Amino acid sequence: MAFNRITAAEAADMIKDGDTVGFSGFTAPGAPKFVPEEIAAKAVREHEAGRPFKINLFTGASTSEHADGALARANAINMRAPYQNVPDLRKRINCHDVHYCDRHLSEMAQEFRYGFYGKMDFAIIEAADITPDGEIILGCGLGNIPTYASMADKIIIELNAKLPKSLHGMHDVVILQDPPYRREIGIYTPSDRIGSPVLKVDPSKIVGIVETDSYDCVKPFTEPDDTSKLIGSNVVRFLVGEYQAGRLPKEFLPLQSGVGNVANAVLYDLGESTVLPKFQMYTEVIQDAVVELLKKGKCTFASTCSMTFSDKTEEEVFANMDFFRDKIVMRPAEISNNPEVIRRLGVIAMNTALEADIFGGVNSTHVLGTKMMNGIGGSGDFTRNAYISIFSCPSVTKGGLISNIVPMVAHADHSEHSVDVVVTDQGIADLRHLDPVQRAQVIIENCAHPDYRPLLLDYLHLGKGGQTPHSLQAAFEFHNAFNNTGDMRNADFAKYK
Ligand code: COA
Repeated sequence: MAFNRITAAEAADMIKDGDTVGFSGFTAPGAPKFVPEEIAAKAVREHEAGRPFKINLFTGASTSEHADGALARANAINMRAPYQNVPDLRKRINCHDVHYCDRHLSEMAQEFRYGFYGKMDFAIIEAADITPDGEIILGCGLGNIPTYASMADKIIIELNAKLPKSLHGMHDVVILQDPPYRREIGIYTPSDRIGSPVLKVDPSKIVGIVETDSYDCVKPFTEPDDTSKLIGSNVVRFLVGEYQAGRLPKEFLPLQSGVGNVANAVLYDLGESTVLPKFQMYTEVIQDAVVELLKKGKCTFASTCSMTFSDKTEEEVFANMDFFRDKIVMRPAEISNNPEVIRRLGVIAMNTALEADIFGGVNSTHVLGTKMMNGIGGSGDFTRNAYISIFSCPSVTKGGLISNIVPMVAHADHSEHSVDVVVTDQGIADLRHLDPVQRAQVIIENCAHPDYRPLLLDYLHLGKGGQTPHSLQAAFEFHNAFNNTGDMRNADFAKYK
């Protein structure tokens, strides 16, 4: 079938106010970049003409300034799921311009198939290549596009000339059957494949192909700062201790690692470790640091949903596809983040917290309990099902005005039942086999900043009993002190005695 070549503006023109649109990709890679900007431009024109224009937007995870950023600035989003991380969209969410549904990434595709979100009008897919019968070689991130493409009435393709056709073979595309027909997922090691290297869509649904030419525009990797380096070395010290104690198998276990400075610092230290063996990754995102580990042979295989590489690294990988093709597989989010597979493989989960409380609760999403930062992302998928679940964060933020170890998290994303280890620049708190008061003692002693330890102990001693001795009156004294005085160190527990 011959497809219509159209411009991004012509593609955007087909999309109407109230439409539900699904994007390919996971983080910036794999997400469309040109049609979203034109949808945003259309929204601006419509608003200027006094007409409403907003879409409901579903993705795999975050996108980029070209998509979430442009659409948020144009106030063109009504409902958004399952994850975002763009400052302008964050502002829209926090002032209720956008209805944001912050969901576990592994569940989004099946929830869409279950019908929880209605119908999908358009799927917009970034592609490296497409055959006349609708076989698509995807870009550097999958997200939920297999499901969105199968459910959408119409499909628009962004055919990106920067993406080499040699990406063929790096994807493992599959859609799970829904209950009561779901069977076990046959992934027994990170490199197992269960699907197809291409996404097959109904060619009659393709309403146009937009030719584009752009790398994924991921910001280059920055050197970890001193705090991240300390956290990274503490995480690796913990893993080395576990390995030497025989609590990790001699072959080691697959790693999941979040994104950002701390994740890079951890991966760097893992690469340098002479004690830990070669390892594999079963994760949702791989960054530049993983490419270095693959080249060194320290990481032997990475299963991911997205290759979130800087443009320079993306260019290097594209030029050496023969080396990387058998070392990386990209999967849909419902497989990369699948609880069944994570539990079976024994993945070691390493994620970042905004704040952790003395009993082991973690807040990943809400600044001071109210303002949405990014979303839960894949942290819940991995944390709840991991062999060991590690959360890290700096002991303090904003030059010490905020303690990231608090009496009670102001928003609960991960409960103490799922969090095994808390790590900060100060040290490691291994919470396994400890009761709540023991956990509090070890978190305060090992992880809290020295400025905050006496205050946290004051709080712990306020408790009047119960297995988890919270004082419900004083639980948010740190947050109240920050809101009232700009410094959590002004918390005063004496008044609650
Ligand atoms: N209270 C208030 N503000 C806080 C805070 C706290 N306890 N902790 C951090 N902040 C602020 C920082 O000062 C910084 O502010 P700035 O943007 O003004 O500089 C901002 O929040 C981000 O903090 P930073 O330490 O740079 O965070 P990060 O880049 O390491 O990200 C999370 C941390 C928790 C926001 C991020 O990991 C996340 O979104 N996690 C949820 C999703 C996830 O885990 N996905 C799975 C892995 S990909």
